[in-house]
Amino acid sequence: MSKWRDLVICTALILGVVAGVSEPVHAGTYFLGRPAEPDEIAAWNHEVQPDGTGLPMGQGSVEDGDLLFGERCAACHGDFAEGVDNWPTLSGGIDTLADADPVKTVGSYWPYLSTVWDFIYRSKPYGNAQTLEVDEVYSLVAFLLYSSDLVEDDFVLSRDNFLDVKMPNVEGFIVDDRAVMEYPKFSADPCMNDCRQPVKITKRASDLDLTPAPLVAAVGTGLVELGEKVFGKCKACHQVGEGARDRVGPALNGIVGARAAQADYLYSDEMRSAAKAGLVWDDAELAAFLDDPKGYMPGTRMSFSGLTAQADIKAVIAFLASQKG
Ligand code: HEC
Ligand code: HEC
Repeated sequence: MSKWRDLVICTALILGVVAGVSEPVHAGTYFLGRPAEPDEIAAWNHEVQPDGTGLPMGQGSVEDGDLLFGERCAACHGDFAEGVDNWPTLSGGIDTLADADPVKTVGSYWPYLSTVWDFIYRSKPYGNAQTLEVDEVYSLVAFLLYSSDLVEDDFVLSRDNFLDVKMPNVEGFIVDDRAVMEYPKFSADPCMNDCRQPVKITKRASDLDLTPAPLVAAVGTGLVELGEKVFGKCKACHQVGEGARDRVGPALNGIVGARAAQADYLYSDEMRSAAKAGLVWDDAELAAFLDDPKGYMPGTRMSFSGLTAQADIKAVIAFLASQKG
């Protein structure tokens, strides 16, 4: 015991002396080892990226995945990926992310299929990591897609069709832009007088060549139904309908035709001054805002990149117009 302790102390002293007396050549390094060579990193690195980089050649079917899942995964995750006891559920949960008790699974939550592939290849089965062949991983991923109803039972996943699979929540994550949008505001000297900035509206609906259909025309054309689907992109932050509450963003009942910023909600300064200046969410203003929120109102707290299709904008407005709450 004391021998070991002496050895440890002695080694620490030598290292200390070496580090102390010599002028550091590479300040901040430990004088140990050497930088890894690129092919050493490549041999060790299994990383697969959302654009398919790093994905090895191979393929696997739902059918094979089903069998394999039964053998290697079902003890914890259940035969149908439904989860046993407290082990994680891997299937279902789609459209529950805005619920009070969301079910976050590969299907409902994970934005990229590459993460599923990477994670399984790297760390599964739990306790016996990196014992799966490449084709086995493809088949397990195919099976997980199937168990969330994202592909049919005869589906075969391969490197060739990998990027064709669209995950339902691919747009559900937002870039954390606080370092750009918020921190400068908090760290700047606070303004003490004449602080209200004039509102700059940089884009007008008339620029957009968009004539939103009145609601009466929309009913029965499927526009409201389509709009409800589009609203799926807003649900992470906004609620509508009975009992809708403010969440990340304000509740949106009755928003079409209403004055801006009327909810009991902590709006951005920009949204509040726009409201004071008389902004009303008619179809045209809403369309311009939803097309490019931060372009329309620089400084808005709505961290949403905007809807790309004009048809989606039209539809979501028709849907919102149907939600009086
Ligand atoms: C011994 C139990 C056990 C086995 C067997 C097992 N897992 Fe897991 N699995 C876990 C646990 C615990 C977690 C959560 C902790 C973690 O992320 O490692 C998990 C997490 C996961 C996740 C991520 C779930 C999420 O939404 O975060 C996936 C995907 C997954 N497992 C797939 C598999 C596959 C495929 C197999 C079979 C090859 C497998 N697991 C075998 C216990 C197990
Ligand atoms: C990532 C969260 C997020 C998403 C996604 C999002 N919003 Fe917002 N929204 C906000 C926030 C936060 C505000 C408050 C903005 C402010 O104060 O500047 C807001 C404000 C609004 C307002 C103004 C409300 C008022 O009371 O004046 C409307 C209208 C709106 N959002 C519609 C939508 C629609 C429609 C979608 C989907 C197509 C959407 N938003 C997606 C967060 C979001």
